[in-house]
Amino acid sequence: MEIAKVGVVGCGLMGHGIAQICAQAGWEVVVRELEQAPLDKGLAKIDKQLARAVERGKLAREDADAIRGRIEPTLEYSDLADCDLVIEAITEDLGAKLEMWRELDGIVKQEAFFATNTSSLAVADQAEATSRAERFLGLHFFNPAQVMPLLEVVRAEETGEQAAQVGFELGEKLRKTTVAARDNRGFVVNRLLVPYMLDAIRAYEQGVGSVEDIDTGMKAGASHPMGPLELADFVGLDTLASIADVMVEAYEEDRFSQPETLRKLVEAGQFGRKSGRGFYDYSGEKPVAVDPRG
Ligand code: CAA
Repeated sequence: MEIAKVGVVGCGLMGHGIAQICAQAGWEVVVRELEQAPLDKGLAKIDKQLARAVERGKLAREDADAIRGRIEPTLEYSDLADCDLVIEAITEDLGAKLEMWRELDGIVKQEAFFATNTSSLAVADQAEATSRAERFLGLHFFNPAQVMPLLEVVRAEETGEQAAQVGFELGEKLRKTTVAARDNRGFVVNRLLVPYMLDAIRAYEQGVGSVEDIDTGMKAGASHPMGPLELADFVGLDTLASIADVMVEAYEEDRFSQPETLRKLVEAGQFGRKSGRGFYDYSGEKPVAVDPRG
């Protein structure tokens, strides 16, 4: 099936990026949020990225305007009715996702494909809530979606061949590297990356090194673009905590459990970069490492 119009539900950290790259690839995009404020915030980020690309000579002004013109913001699910593919990027909460899919299933044309950008929940659990499990798949993007080259294409048991093909073709059109992942919690990347970040927090708790030492160690010693604690702040400590909870329940292994420091930071509303503080303080010009135990 030819994809002409893509619906994106959620215009937050992941949703705005997915909407932007889909519009850049030439598709008409409808992006839906619950309320006007987060919708405006996501659109402002897209405008900023496009303006920066124009400033740096990477994009012509007319092309940037055309990309922006292909993005239709909305607060109504009904505007997604004629989309060929709907990608959800809402909060990582199974109840909220099921409620959303049940509603969308009755609105969006029956031949359309549905995809979840979940990072840890089972794709099958969401597919079951719809009447189109065969056309339901996982499309897991990485933050920032505009930059990170990977797309995990996840097939649940009932995902049909055609839906999987839509995922791989979408990846190709977005110029992403695609990998096929089984519908296990965390797929490929988070299955490995989440325990790594959690272990870095445990290393910090055990006094292996300071926040800065641990991050510098992995950047300079393993050529990672960000250290694990910096990355945890970037992903969002609340998000990391909820993925850890899902994974510890699924795998029943301690290495997926939340370290005390993570629990405390999240309880204090310190979610990392998005809230202005986590393992680093982001209030100044440059992030400054803090000692969350202090
Ligand atoms: N949104 C859009 N574009 C962004 C961006 C953002 N948030 N941050 C950076 N960019 C773009 C910049 O515009 C710039 O593009 P141009 O070269 O075209 O101007 C380019 O990326 C490089 O940016 P910078 O020079 O400012 O910064 P950098 O070189 O330090 O790179 C980074 C920033 C790409 C984020 C890099 O630090 C990095 O790769 N970090 C690791 C990110 C990572 O591991 N992500 C996966 C997280 S896990 C996940 O997402 C899965 C999950 O389910 C939890």
